[in-house]
Amino acid sequence: MLRTMWGCCIVFLLVLQAAAPTAASHSLKVGFYEKSCPQAQNVVRDVVSNALAANKGIGAGLIRLHFHDCFVRGCDASVLLEGRDSERMHPANLNSLRGFEVVEGAKDLLESQCPNTVSCADVLAFAARDAAELLGGFRYKVPAGRRDGRISRNSDADVLPPPTDSAETLRDRFAEKGLSLEDMVALSGAHSLGVSHCPSFSTRLYNFNATHPQDPSMDADLADYLKRRCPPPGTDRTTVSLDLATPNRLDVQYYRNLQRGRGLFTSDQTLWTSSLTADKVASFAEKPNGWAKKYAAAMVRMGAIDVLTGNEGEIRVKCAVVNGL
Ligand code: HEM
Ligand SMILES: *[C@@H]1O[C@H](CO)[C@@H](O)[C@H](O)[C@H]1NC(C)=O
Repeated sequence: MLRTMWGCCIVFLLVLQAAAPTAASHSLKVGFYEKSCPQAQNVVRDVVSNALAANKGIGAGLIRLHFHDCFVRGCDASVLLEGRDSERMHPANLNSLRGFEVVEGAKDLLESQCPNTVSCADVLAFAARDAAELLGGFRYKVPAGRRDGRISRNSDADVLPPPTDSAETLRDRFAEKGLSLEDMVALSGAHSLGVSHCPSFSTRLYNFNATHPQDPSMDADLADYLKRRCPPPGTDRTTVSLDLATPNRLDVQYYRNLQRGRGLFTSDQTLWTSSLTADKVASFAEKPNGWAKKYAAAMVRMGAIDVLTGNEGEIRVKCAVVNGL
């Protein structure tokens, strides 16, 4: 009896082993479009480069789009889908995501050159990388082979971190996605680019807590400037640069700002005030090349979250709509 049971388990193990290489062959690969669409990455880069020549802020938009894609249902371009109940309608996304037309523009070109071949999710991952190169001066290789999902639901975007999060909560949210504490701090360096609307930080200026109307961890000059830009109650749609020192450079200035109380969000400043992450902030602040390497590696890991590969999902024709609609 025992022997027959073991026999069954050994067969079972062999089957599992046989299945493993197939699963591995469906993981993301650098050079995925080498044969099917060799120009894919150059096409994306040219489109991103032209867009940034007109408006550097689009680079920030593309990097954030990729982050918001990957954290919600994985990197499946679900963030690009339009719809009444889509991720795009979630408060974390609505009226603040940008760069959609750049992704769609690159995708249109690729559809004419290599129909039904390059996924919107890959276009977005390439575009976020190109934005980092054009604004940060460092380039990294992006494994590809993502497929596009067919579902986008508003409530799924609840997993996105709000700007009020503490270092502990951020650690837990990123861990949930398989990313380390160091990945989290390295990726937050993307806040060295782009802008925020007043409501994302105005509680730090006017309604911090019962004893302190203003967040004491914020530099006084920064607080004065922000109060002028976002007069009470701080709900207007004005935008402010996340990194006032070098707003269009993807660099370690973000970490140096934190060391001077000049982080815009609670979720930024906490990285310096919390003993959990302060040493990482200090180390990135003084090692620009070390940070760039960690940022690139963390972006590649983020870009692999819950991806669809092989025959899963589809290659969307238009990034804003699923095929067949
Ligand atoms: C750590 C947790 C994070 C929180 C709480 C957070 C929160 C936010 C918020 C509230 C905004 C401004 C929205 C607005 O009011 O317009 C923003 C902007 C931005 N975020 Fe994050 N974020 C986080 C992580 C990341 C990551 C991991 C990336 C990319 C790797 C990223 C990239 C950006 C960029 C580039 C912008 C500027 C977008 C633009 O100018 O269009 N963020 N973030
Ligand atoms: C308000 O925030 C300050 C500074 O972080 C803190 O010391 C104080 O205990 C807080 N007060 C309340 C009532 O939460």
